[in-house]
Amino acid sequence: MNIFVTGCSGYIGGTFTYEALKEGHKIYGLDNFINSKEEVTEKISSSFGENFFFEQIDLANDAKKLNEFMAKSNPDVVVHFAGLKAVGESEEQPIAYWDNNFLGSLNLMKAMKNNNTKNIVFSSSATVYGRSKIQPIHEDCHLSSTSTYGSTKLSIEYLLNDVSRTGDINVISLRYFNPVGSHKDKVIFENPFDSPNNLMPRIVRVALGIDNEIAIFGSDYPTEDGTGERDYIHIEDLVRGHFHAVDHFKDFNGFDSFNLGTGNKVSVLKLIKTFEESNKIDIPYRFESRREGDVESCYADPSKSNEVLKWKAKYSTNEMCIDAWDAMKKNFYEAK
Ligand code: WQD
Repeated sequence: MNIFVTGCSGYIGGTFTYEALKEGHKIYGLDNFINSKEEVTEKISSSFGENFFFEQIDLANDAKKLNEFMAKSNPDVVVHFAGLKAVGESEEQPIAYWDNNFLGSLNLMKAMKNNNTKNIVFSSSATVYGRSKIQPIHEDCHLSSTSTYGSTKLSIEYLLNDVSRTGDINVISLRYFNPVGSHKDKVIFENPFDSPNNLMPRIVRVALGIDNEIAIFGSDYPTEDGTGERDYIHIEDLVRGHFHAVDHFKDFNGFDSFNLGTGNKVSVLKLIKTFEESNKIDIPYRFESRREGDVESCYADPSKSNEVLKWKAKYSTNEMCIDAWDAMKKNFYEAK
């Protein structure tokens, strides 16, 4: 299958691209390296050169190059990962987020229509549920945004839904909960040196000795241990969900959304303890005040994905922590 991948050099897009090439697909990938590294593209090219075609394209500003590349690719499906995704940063740089995320997606829609490309899998996020009172969250829960980042993701879903009603495209929107860990080949992984905002790479930074301890944002939430609860999902489970979505186009048209989560809630303290126990490493921490924009709890009801996409997350929190650390040991950390 010819798969057109936007954001093919990022943590999630790069992991999907790597796995899709392993499965024998042809990948036509683009990235603007605003939130990814050229070295990922180089690693993928050196492993799968004959089936990997890459162009550096900025979706928001290179509409002509985008159209030409899509025409050359003649894709069976588009998988759209490209996007800025840091909630805090989005509050400081709203114009950059609307430009990169929304305008980029609008140009992608135009290119798909011009090239008569029908099917797109969109990388959406649990952030489109805002502060959901209903937990676990199902796909029919109220949609809202609590950040600029969330507003861009929600607006892109509205854009894709509107275009799908013309019959020009079919859309599967995958709402990610919290992707963590590394692909088991340890070639593509989340780089902890890129001043990450997310919890798992921050834990890894402490394990690597880059940071002395981790700050836990809030210990007074009305949760089991007072710290925030999330639905962490292994990156390989998340990527496999995309292949099930691609297969689903065989008997689907229109617009539909699916949660990609495990259905299990894990607190910050619990994730830290699991990382310590599974990797036999101490992770010192301190408590700080709550982080602006955080919700107390956010975890998925994955039953629609289980039933309709025939997809179910299979890796445990323990395996997420082991795989996150194994990739670091292989790539950065000489065991003492
Ligand atoms: C998880 C928990 C923090 C860092 C974000 C995006 C979401 C998605 C995943 C793209 C919270 C706590 C964190 C730290 C901490 N991205 N924490 N100390 O905010 O749930 O989701 O990433 O789709 O859209 O919003 O993830 O990993 O930042 O936070 O205590 O140093 O860890 O308070 O409870 P989040 P996160």
